[in-house]
Amino acid sequence: MHIGVITLFPQMLDALRCGGITARALERGLLQLSTWNPRDFTHNKHRRVDDRPYGGGPGMVMQVQPLRTAIQMAISVLGQDTHVIYLSPQGRRFDQNGVQTLLNYPRLLMVAGRYEGIDERLIEQDIDEEWSIGDYVLSGGELAAMVIIDALIRWLPQALGHQESATTDSFYNGLLDHPHYTRPEELAGQKVPAILLSGNHAQIARWRHKQALGKTWRRCPQLLEQLELTAEQQQLLTE
Ligand code: ADE
Repeated sequence: MHIGVITLFPQMLDALRCGGITARALERGLLQLSTWNPRDFTHNKHRRVDDRPYGGGPGMVMQVQPLRTAIQMAISVLGQDTHVIYLSPQGRRFDQNGVQTLLNYPRLLMVAGRYEGIDERLIEQDIDEEWSIGDYVLSGGELAAMVIIDALIRWLPQALGHQESATTDSFYNGLLDHPHYTRPEELAGQKVPAILLSGNHAQIARWRHKQALGKTWRRCPQLLEQLELTAEQQQLLTE
């Protein structure tokens, strides 16, 4: 997969290279990450990329030309079939279904806006889709791009070590994750559930499944509505 990001602050994306699963995936070339800075494509002396909004009001708006040229440069490198997305609070909400949707695009270009946003004509003409990571306003699209990239990387073949698995994460199978424990066995009276020390793998799997179902039912009941529970799951929920 090759992901490009159009950003005024390309160094922000370096956080993905700091460590952990994302750094490893980038080092091993499972994901190629490239950035383009619209400031490099301005035609004015002060390398300005923004201007005041027509109709008045606070803040500045990112102009079409530098962004459009940056997008075109990126597409000339990534390929004509690149899927171009713009990150904004007005976009489609990113969730686990969104992860699977965006994984279908081997070449993805993310446009991170700043200020009050980007000129609407760019969204109409140059952007395929708008995505949001939640109902709140960030100072720019970079963190949203990084959230999405991190979530996608977990699903790239070989990105996770064998001891980590995307298929046991929360939201796989539509459920939240079960609780986790590690040593010590007892901490100021707080004990690890005995079943986890039993060595009975079938019973442990059953207990974890029940915990995951219960937590999902309490915290995100809407997730359960989207699932067709098996007879076994219904039984676990009522026990
Ligand atoms: N840019 C600013 N806020 C955002 C959000 N909530 N999601 C995606 N991009 C954004």
